[in-house]
Amino acid sequence: MTEKCLSSKDSSHIEMDTKYFKKLKRRVPSLGMGTWKMGGGMERDERYDEAWVSSLKRGLELGLTLIDTAEIYGAGHAEELVGEAIRGFPREEVFIVSKVWPIHAGREDLLRAAEASCRRLGTYIDLYLLHWPTSEIPLSETMKGMERLMERGLIRHTGVSNFRVDQIEEARSHLSKVDLAAVQNEYSLINRRYELDILPYAEREGMMFMAHTPLGMGVLARDSSLARIGLKYGKTAAQVALNWLICVEAVVPTPKAALIEHIEEDAGAMGWRLGRVDWEAISRIFPPQVL
Ligand SMILES: NC(=O)c1ccc[n+]([C@@H]2O[C@H](COP(=O)([O-])OP(=O)(O)OC[C@H]3O[C@@H](n4cnc5c(N)ncnc54)[C@H](OP(=O)(O)O)[C@@H]3O)[C@@H](O)[C@H]2O)c1
Repeated sequence: MTEKCLSSKDSSHIEMDTKYFKKLKRRVPSLGMGTWKMGGGMERDERYDEAWVSSLKRGLELGLTLIDTAEIYGAGHAEELVGEAIRGFPREEVFIVSKVWPIHAGREDLLRAAEASCRRLGTYIDLYLLHWPTSEIPLSETMKGMERLMERGLIRHTGVSNFRVDQIEEARSHLSKVDLAAVQNEYSLINRRYELDILPYAEREGMMFMAHTPLGMGVLARDSSLARIGLKYGKTAAQVALNWLICVEAVVPTPKAALIEHIEEDAGAMGWRLGRVDWEAISRIFPPQVL
């Protein structure tokens, strides 16, 4: 981890915890909300709609105004829940990220998929990502398609997810009118594999690095060493794990919390920073994996 990656802000209170990204040309909150398994896994599930929408609304109230979703989540139902949660909230204050599933990344399918996502969300998409790389459809076709979606006003920015640096470079080479604004890959204290390549790349290029699975699917919320360090700050293990990521300049983690008490706890990861000594101590407890 380079010195440059660490935010200059230390443990002091931060009123509006946001980050500016050159490629987005705007500020976004330092922490977002994920939606995987809200509205179902790969299939639609409407049983907990009311609770899911309440949790998302509570997150918005607490400043978690970046929401990550995808057409595949709950077979589109997650996008519907996001659409319901943001209704009545000032549109320009929300930043919606959605993703196209690789089989829909071809010229005509991409347009249909984006239109369907916008319909379910009830609005345009701020950042539209290709969910995974695919060898089935040329990346050039997908990237040209993304530019057309922007021209039509369906999306504001484009990016990629689960890509390597060489694949990100290839994607960028197919864009002539805009640039990739973000990459979304797994990043947490128990998965630090992109620290040496994608993270410094995103930082250098002014792209947002969205950290998915930032709590290791909840494992880090139960970690006793993080809980111990958190005592000093009056914070929990989950808040420390998320703040450790927020301290890295290019990173915006998107934890998912269906339970309202989890959303409230996660929101408490914003507005402060771990001191450098504690940040480094945590880095030593969870060293990067040797691949
Ligand atoms: N691009 C991709 O391929 C990709 C892949 C995976 C994920 N993602 C995105 O990243 C988001 C986050 O990843 P994820 O959902 O897999 O994993 P995660 O955010 O690391 O963990 C979610 C789990 O942590 C629990 N949790 C959240 N806050 C907690 C707290 N304060 N205390 C205790 N437990 C807590 C949640 O419980 P409850 O839900 O019960 O509250 C849920 O079981 C996804 O929702 C999705 O938007 C993207």
